[in-house]
Amino acid sequence: MRAAVRAEYGTADVVRLAEAPRPAVGDKEVLVEVRAAGLDRGVVHLMTGLPYLGRLAFGVRRPRNPVLGMDLAGTVVAVGPKVTRFTVGDAVYGAGKGSFAEYAVAKESQLARKPAKLTFAQAAAVPVSACTAVQGLDAGRLQAGQRVLVIGASGGVGSYAVQLAKAAGAEVTGVAGTAKLDLVRALGADHVLDHTREDFADGRHHWDLILDIAGNPSIARLRRALAPAGTAVLTGGEEGGNLTGGMGRQLAALALSPFVRQRLTMFLGLVRAETLERLTALLESGAVVPSVDRTYPLEEAAAAIRALEAGRVRGKAVIEVRAASSR
Ligand SMILES: NC(=O)c1ccc[n+]([C@@H]2O[C@H](COP(=O)([O-])OP(=O)(O)OC[C@H]3O[C@@H](n4cnc5c(N)ncnc54)[C@H](OP(=O)(O)O)[C@@H]3O)[C@@H](O)[C@H]2O)c1
Repeated sequence: MRAAVRAEYGTADVVRLAEAPRPAVGDKEVLVEVRAAGLDRGVVHLMTGLPYLGRLAFGVRRPRNPVLGMDLAGTVVAVGPKVTRFTVGDAVYGAGKGSFAEYAVAKESQLARKPAKLTFAQAAAVPVSACTAVQGLDAGRLQAGQRVLVIGASGGVGSYAVQLAKAAGAEVTGVAGTAKLDLVRALGADHVLDHTREDFADGRHHWDLILDIAGNPSIARLRRALAPAGTAVLTGGEEGGNLTGGMGRQLAALALSPFVRQRLTMFLGLVRAETLERLTALLESGAVVPSVDRTYPLEEAAAAIRALEAGRVRGKAVIEVRAASSR
Protein backbone atom coordinates (compact mmCIF):
# COMPACT_ATOMS: atom_id res chain seq x y z
CA MET A 1 0.00 0.00 0.00
CA ARG A 2 1.05 3.63 -0.48
CA ALA A 3 1.85 5.52 2.72
CA ALA A 4 3.51 8.71 3.96
CA VAL A 5 6.39 7.38 6.05
CA ARG A 6 9.49 8.50 7.90
CA ALA A 7 12.27 6.11 8.91
CA GLU A 8 13.65 8.49 11.52
CA TYR A 9 12.53 11.50 13.56
CA GLY A 10 13.09 14.91 11.97
CA THR A 11 11.54 17.83 10.09
CA ALA A 12 8.95 17.45 7.31
CA ASP A 13 11.92 16.73 5.01
CA VAL A 14 12.07 13.16 6.38
CA VAL A 15 8.50 12.42 5.20
CA ARG A 16 8.18 10.64 1.86
CA LEU A 17 5.67 8.56 -0.06
CA ALA A 18 6.61 4.86 -0.06
CA GLU A 19 5.22 1.34 -0.32
CA ALA A 20 4.53 -0.14 3.10
CA PRO A 21 3.06 -3.50 4.13
CA ARG A 22 -0.68 -3.54 4.79
CA PRO A 23 -1.02 -3.79 8.61
CA ALA A 24 -2.43 -6.94 10.24
CA VAL A 25 -5.46 -6.63 12.52
CA GLY A 26 -5.33 -7.70 16.16
CA ASP A 27 -8.19 -9.32 18.09
CA LYS A 28 -9.99 -6.09 18.99
CA GLU A 29 -8.87 -4.11 15.96
CA VAL A 30 -10.41 -3.07 12.68
CA LEU A 31 -8.67 -2.65 9.30
CA VAL A 32 -9.87 0.54 7.63
CA GLU A 33 -9.47 1.48 3.98
CA VAL A 34 -8.59 5.11 4.61
CA ARG A 35 -10.43 7.72 2.55
CA ALA A 36 -9.15 10.75 4.46
CA ALA A 37 -6.75 11.39 7.34
CA GLY A 38 -6.77 14.43 9.61
CA LEU A 39 -3.66 16.41 10.49
CA ASP A 40 -3.05 17.82 13.95
CA ARG A 41 -0.19 18.91 16.19
CA GLY A 42 0.16 15.38 17.49
CA VAL A 43 1.34 14.28 14.02
CA VAL A 44 4.08 16.90 14.19
CA HIS A 45 5.17 15.50 17.56
CA LEU A 46 5.19 11.98 16.08
CA MET A 47 7.28 13.23 13.16
CA THR A 48 9.86 15.16 15.19
CA GLY A 49 9.97 12.82 18.18
CA LEU A 50 9.64 15.93 20.37
CA PRO A 51 9.13 16.38 23.21
CA TYR A 52 11.39 13.44 24.04
CA LEU A 53 8.92 12.20 26.66
CA GLY A 54 6.68 10.99 23.81
CA ARG A 55 9.40 8.67 22.51
CA LEU A 56 8.76 6.33 25.44
CA ALA A 57 5.48 5.46 23.70
CA PHE A 58 6.47 5.81 20.04
CA GLY A 59 10.05 4.53 19.85
CA VAL A 60 13.14 5.83 21.61
CA ARG A 61 15.74 6.01 18.80
CA ARG A 62 13.44 5.86 15.80
CA PRO A 63 9.67 5.58 15.29
CA ARG A 64 8.41 2.03 15.82
CA ASN A 65 5.71 2.58 13.18
CA PRO A 66 7.16 4.39 10.16
CA VAL A 67 3.70 5.37 8.88
CA LEU A 68 2.55 8.81 10.07
CA GLY A 69 -0.95 9.90 11.01
CA MET A 70 -3.67 9.18 13.58
CA ASP A 71 -7.07 10.59 12.58
CA LEU A 72 -8.92 8.70 9.88
CA ALA A 73 -12.24 8.24 8.13
CA GLY A 74 -12.85 5.33 5.81
CA THR A 75 -14.48 1.96 5.28
CA VAL A 76 -14.01 -1.20 7.33
CA VAL A 77 -12.41 -3.96 5.24
CA ALA A 78 -11.57 -6.52 7.97
CA VAL A 79 -12.34 -7.01 11.65
CA GLY A 80 -10.48 -8.89 14.38
CA PRO A 81 -12.18 -11.94 15.96
CA LYS A 82 -13.21 -10.06 19.13
CA VAL A 83 -14.68 -6.99 17.39
CA THR A 84 -18.42 -6.66 18.09
CA ARG A 85 -19.45 -3.15 16.98
CA PHE A 86 -18.35 -3.10 13.32
CA THR A 87 -18.59 -5.24 10.21
CA VAL A 88 -16.99 -5.07 6.77
CA GLY A 89 -18.42 -2.18 4.75
CA ASP A 90 -19.17 0.16 7.69
CA ALA A 91 -18.10 3.78 7.23
CA VAL A 92 -16.17 4.80 10.36
CA TYR A 93 -14.10 7.62 11.85
CA GLY A 94 -11.66 7.71 14.73
CA ALA A 95 -7.98 7.26 15.52
CA GLY A 96 -5.74 4.66 13.89
CA LYS A 97 -2.11 3.64 13.93
CA GLY A 98 -0.58 5.29 10.87
CA SER A 99 -3.50 6.82 8.94
CA PHE A 100 -1.49 8.56 6.20
CA ALA A 101 -1.79 5.34 4.22
CA GLU A 102 -4.24 3.41 2.06
CA TYR A 103 -5.01 1.07 4.98
CA ALA A 104 -4.68 1.52 8.74
CA VAL A 105 -5.59 -0.51 11.80
CA ALA A 106 -7.56 1.08 14.59
CA LYS A 107 -8.70 -0.17 17.99
CA GLU A 108 -12.44 -0.80 18.04
CA SER A 109 -12.55 1.37 21.19
CA GLN A 110 -11.26 4.37 19.21
CA LEU A 111 -13.79 4.23 16.37
CA ALA A 112 -17.39 5.21 15.79
CA ARG A 113 -19.72 5.13 12.81
CA LYS A 114 -19.10 8.08 10.50
CA PRO A 115 -21.83 10.74 10.75
CA ALA A 116 -23.83 10.29 7.52
CA LYS A 117 -24.01 14.05 7.05
CA LEU A 118 -20.23 14.46 6.80
CA THR A 119 -17.91 13.77 3.89
CA PHE A 120 -14.96 11.49 4.66
CA ALA A 121 -12.69 14.57 4.61
CA GLN A 122 -14.87 16.37 7.16
CA ALA A 123 -15.11 13.30 9.39
CA ALA A 124 -11.32 12.82 9.31
CA ALA A 125 -10.92 16.37 10.67
CA VAL A 126 -12.82 15.46 13.85
CA PRO A 127 -11.28 12.77 16.09
CA VAL A 128 -8.18 14.05 17.95
CA SER A 129 -9.02 17.77 17.89
CA ALA A 130 -12.73 17.51 18.70
CA CYS A 131 -12.29 14.79 21.37
CA THR A 132 -9.65 17.03 22.98
CA ALA A 133 -12.06 19.97 22.92
CA VAL A 134 -14.90 17.89 24.45
CA GLN A 135 -12.66 16.44 27.15
CA GLY A 136 -11.09 19.85 27.87
CA LEU A 137 -14.50 21.47 28.38
CA ASP A 138 -15.56 18.48 30.51
CA ALA A 139 -12.42 18.91 32.63
CA GLY A 140 -13.47 22.55 33.06
CA ARG A 141 -17.01 21.46 34.10
CA LEU A 142 -18.54 23.82 31.54
CA GLN A 143 -22.04 25.06 32.37
CA ALA A 144 -24.61 27.02 30.38
CA GLY A 145 -24.39 30.76 30.91
CA GLN A 146 -20.68 30.77 31.77
CA ARG A 147 -18.24 33.21 30.20
CA VAL A 148 -15.66 31.05 28.41
CA LEU A 149 -12.31 32.12 26.93
CA VAL A 150 -10.76 29.88 24.26
CA ILE A 151 -7.09 30.75 23.71
CA GLY A 152 -6.09 29.36 20.31
CA ALA A 153 -9.63 29.50 18.92
CA SER A 154 -8.64 29.37 15.24
CA GLY A 155 -6.77 26.05 15.40
CA GLY A 156 -7.71 22.39 15.39
CA VAL A 157 -8.81 22.04 19.01
CA GLY A 158 -10.01 25.62 19.34
CA SER A 159 -12.30 25.58 16.29
CA TYR A 160 -14.26 22.77 17.96
CA ALA A 161 -14.06 24.24 21.47
CA VAL A 162 -15.72 27.49 20.34
CA GLN A 163 -18.61 25.62 18.72
CA LEU A 164 -19.01 23.13 21.58
CA ALA A 165 -19.06 25.87 24.22
CA LYS A 166 -21.63 27.84 22.21
CA ALA A 167 -23.76 24.72 21.77
CA ALA A 168 -23.65 24.25 25.57
CA GLY A 169 -25.01 27.76 26.11
CA ALA A 170 -21.83 29.62 27.05
CA GLU A 171 -20.83 33.18 26.14
CA VAL A 172 -17.62 32.60 24.21
CA THR A 173 -14.59 34.78 23.58
CA GLY A 174 -12.03 33.40 21.11
CA VAL A 175 -8.37 34.47 20.99
CA ALA A 176 -6.54 34.22 17.65
CA GLY A 177 -4.23 36.17 15.35
CA THR A 178 -5.49 38.99 13.09
CA ALA A 179 -5.82 36.88 9.93
CA LYS A 180 -8.05 34.25 11.55
CA LEU A 181 -10.42 36.42 13.60
CA ASP A 182 -13.05 36.17 10.85
CA LEU A 183 -12.95 32.37 11.15
CA VAL A 184 -13.44 32.55 14.93
CA ARG A 185 -16.44 34.87 14.47
CA ALA A 186 -17.86 32.50 11.84
CA LEU A 187 -17.52 29.61 14.31
CA GLY A 188 -19.97 31.48 16.51
CA ALA A 189 -17.77 33.27 19.06
CA ASP A 190 -19.59 36.17 20.72
CA HIS A 191 -16.35 38.14 21.09
CA VAL A 192 -12.85 37.88 19.61
CA LEU A 193 -9.46 39.05 20.87
CA ASP A 194 -6.43 39.51 18.62
CA HIS A 195 -3.39 38.16 20.43
CA THR A 196 -1.08 40.35 18.33
CA ARG A 197 -2.74 43.56 19.64
CA GLU A 198 -4.72 42.75 22.78
CA ASP A 199 -3.89 41.12 26.10
CA PHE A 200 -6.61 38.83 27.45
CA ALA A 201 -5.02 39.27 30.90
CA ASP A 202 -5.11 43.10 31.00
CA GLY A 203 -7.66 42.96 33.84
CA ARG A 204 -10.56 44.41 31.83
CA HIS A 205 -12.41 41.09 31.50
CA HIS A 206 -12.68 37.95 33.60
CA TRP A 207 -13.86 34.51 32.55
CA ASP A 208 -15.47 31.62 34.43
CA LEU A 209 -13.64 29.07 32.30
CA ILE A 210 -10.46 29.41 30.25
CA LEU A 211 -9.48 26.68 27.80
CA ASP A 212 -5.80 27.39 27.26
CA ILE A 213 -4.80 25.71 24.00
CA ALA A 214 -2.06 27.95 22.54
CA GLY A 215 0.28 30.83 23.20
CA ASN A 216 1.84 29.39 26.35
CA PRO A 217 0.54 32.04 28.78
CA SER A 218 2.05 31.98 32.26
CA ILE A 219 -0.10 30.63 35.10
CA ALA A 220 -0.07 34.14 36.61
CA ARG A 221 -1.62 35.60 33.43
CA LEU A 222 -4.26 32.88 33.32
CA ARG A 223 -5.16 33.59 36.93
CA ARG A 224 -5.40 37.35 36.26
CA ALA A 225 -7.99 36.67 33.55
CA LEU A 226 -10.01 34.21 35.64
CA ALA A 227 -13.04 35.08 37.76
CA PRO A 228 -12.38 34.61 41.52
CA ALA A 229 -13.73 31.04 41.47
CA GLY A 230 -12.99 30.37 37.78
CA THR A 231 -11.31 27.34 36.20
CA ALA A 232 -8.42 27.21 33.75
CA VAL A 233 -7.82 24.02 31.76
CA LEU A 234 -4.30 23.78 30.38
CA THR A 235 -4.47 21.77 27.19
CA GLY A 236 -0.94 21.80 25.91
CA GLY A 237 1.60 24.21 24.55
CA GLU A 238 4.30 24.09 21.94
CA GLU A 239 6.90 26.18 23.73
CA GLY A 240 7.64 24.05 26.80
CA GLY A 241 11.06 22.76 25.72
CA ASN A 242 12.24 19.52 24.11
CA LEU A 243 12.11 17.27 27.15
CA THR A 244 8.53 17.48 28.40
CA GLY A 245 6.88 20.05 26.09
CA GLY A 246 3.85 21.69 27.66
CA MET A 247 3.74 19.17 30.52
CA GLY A 248 5.89 21.26 32.89
CA ARG A 249 3.44 24.17 32.93
CA GLN A 250 0.49 21.80 33.23
CA LEU A 251 1.98 20.01 36.23
CA ALA A 252 2.90 23.33 37.88
CA ALA A 253 -0.76 24.41 37.52
CA LEU A 254 -1.96 21.16 39.12
CA ALA A 255 0.46 21.59 42.02
CA LEU A 256 -0.67 25.18 42.68
CA SER A 257 -4.41 24.57 42.36
CA PRO A 258 -5.09 23.24 45.91
CA PHE A 259 -3.62 26.43 47.39
CA VAL A 260 -5.70 28.98 45.48
CA ARG A 261 -9.43 29.66 45.13
CA GLN A 262 -9.36 29.34 41.36
CA ARG A 263 -9.20 25.84 39.88
CA LEU A 264 -6.23 25.04 37.62
CA THR A 265 -6.30 21.71 35.86
CA MET A 266 -5.07 19.67 32.91
CA PHE A 267 -6.01 16.47 31.13
CA LEU A 268 -4.69 14.03 28.56
CA GLY A 269 -6.97 13.95 25.56
CA LEU A 270 -7.78 10.55 24.09
CA VAL A 271 -9.91 9.53 21.13
CA ARG A 272 -12.61 7.31 22.66
CA ALA A 273 -15.66 5.77 21.03
CA GLU A 274 -17.92 7.34 23.68
CA THR A 275 -16.58 10.85 23.01
CA LEU A 276 -16.90 10.31 19.24
CA GLU A 277 -20.50 9.18 19.70
CA ARG A 278 -21.31 12.35 21.68
CA LEU A 279 -19.77 14.33 18.84
CA THR A 280 -21.71 12.38 16.21
CA ALA A 281 -24.99 13.72 17.62
CA LEU A 282 -23.71 17.31 17.47
CA LEU A 283 -22.28 16.82 13.97
CA GLU A 284 -25.51 15.27 12.69
CA SER A 285 -27.58 18.13 14.13
CA GLY A 286 -25.26 20.72 12.60
CA ALA A 287 -24.44 22.25 16.01
CA VAL A 288 -20.78 21.48 15.26
CA VAL A 289 -19.30 21.69 11.76
CA PRO A 290 -15.68 20.67 11.05
CA SER A 291 -13.72 23.65 9.82
CA VAL A 292 -11.66 22.13 7.00
CA ASP A 293 -9.30 24.72 5.57
CA ARG A 294 -8.09 22.60 2.66
CA THR A 295 -7.25 19.07 1.65
CA TYR A 296 -3.95 17.69 0.35
CA PRO A 297 -3.34 14.48 -1.62
CA LEU A 298 -1.31 11.81 0.19
CA GLU A 299 1.82 12.63 -1.81
CA GLU A 300 1.69 16.19 -0.39
CA ALA A 301 1.55 15.14 3.28
CA ALA A 302 4.86 16.91 3.97
CA ALA A 303 3.48 20.16 2.48
CA ALA A 304 0.42 19.91 4.71
CA ILE A 305 2.62 19.45 7.78
CA ARG A 306 4.76 22.46 6.78
CA ALA A 307 1.60 24.58 6.43
CA LEU A 308 0.49 23.56 9.94
CA GLU A 309 3.92 24.28 11.41
CA ALA A 310 3.97 27.70 9.73
CA GLY A 311 0.59 28.62 11.22
CA ARG A 312 -1.06 28.79 7.78
CA VAL A 313 -3.88 26.34 8.58
CA ARG A 314 -7.25 27.84 9.52
CA GLY A 315 -9.06 25.22 11.58
CA LYS A 316 -8.03 21.84 10.15
CA ALA A 317 -6.07 20.41 7.20
CA VAL A 318 -6.90 16.95 5.84
CA ILE A 319 -4.97 14.42 3.74
CA GLU A 320 -7.15 12.72 1.12
CA VAL A 321 -6.23 9.10 0.51
CA ARG A 322 -7.71 6.77 -2.05
CA ALA A 323 -6.69 3.10 -2.02
CA ALA A 324 -5.62 1.58 -5.34
CA SER A 325 -8.59 -0.84 -5.16
CA SER A 326 -11.16 1.97 -5.08
CA ARG A 327 -9.53 4.38 -7.51
N1 LIG B 1 -4.04 17.75 26.29
C1 LIG B 1 -4.09 16.96 25.22
O1 LIG B 1 -4.29 15.78 25.36
C2 LIG B 1 -3.92 17.55 23.83
C3 LIG B 1 -4.55 16.97 22.74
C4 LIG B 1 -4.45 17.57 21.49
C5 LIG B 1 -3.67 18.73 21.34
N2 LIG B 1 -3.00 19.22 22.42
C6 LIG B 1 -2.14 20.41 22.28
O2 LIG B 1 -2.96 21.54 22.04
C7 LIG B 1 -2.20 22.50 21.32
C8 LIG B 1 -3.01 23.03 20.15
O3 LIG B 1 -3.26 22.01 19.20
P1 LIG B 1 -4.04 22.34 17.87
O4 LIG B 1 -4.09 21.06 17.10
O5 LIG B 1 -5.30 23.06 18.15
O6 LIG B 1 -3.00 23.34 17.16
P2 LIG B 1 -3.19 24.29 15.90
O7 LIG B 1 -4.21 23.73 14.98
O8 LIG B 1 -1.85 24.62 15.39
O9 LIG B 1 -3.85 25.60 16.53
C9 LIG B 1 -3.20 26.46 17.37
C10 LIG B 1 -3.81 27.85 17.18
O10 LIG B 1 -3.29 28.70 18.18
C11 LIG B 1 -3.24 30.01 17.69
N3 LIG B 1 -2.20 30.77 18.41
C12 LIG B 1 -0.88 30.81 18.17
N4 LIG B 1 -0.29 31.65 19.06
C13 LIG B 1 -1.27 32.11 19.86
C14 LIG B 1 -1.30 33.01 20.96
N5 LIG B 1 -0.21 33.63 21.41
N6 LIG B 1 -2.49 33.24 21.56
C15 LIG B 1 -3.61 32.66 21.12
N7 LIG B 1 -3.65 31.81 20.07
C16 LIG B 1 -2.49 31.55 19.46
C17 LIG B 1 -2.97 29.87 16.22
O11 LIG B 1 -3.77 30.80 15.61
P3 LIG B 1 -3.28 32.15 14.93
O12 LIG B 1 -2.53 31.72 13.70
O13 LIG B 1 -4.60 32.78 14.65
O14 LIG B 1 -2.43 32.85 15.92
C18 LIG B 1 -3.45 28.46 15.86
O15 LIG B 1 -4.59 28.52 15.01
C19 LIG B 1 -0.91 21.80 20.90
O16 LIG B 1 0.13 22.23 21.76
C20 LIG B 1 -1.22 20.35 21.09
O17 LIG B 1 -0.06 19.59 21.35
C21 LIG B 1 -3.12 18.67 23.65
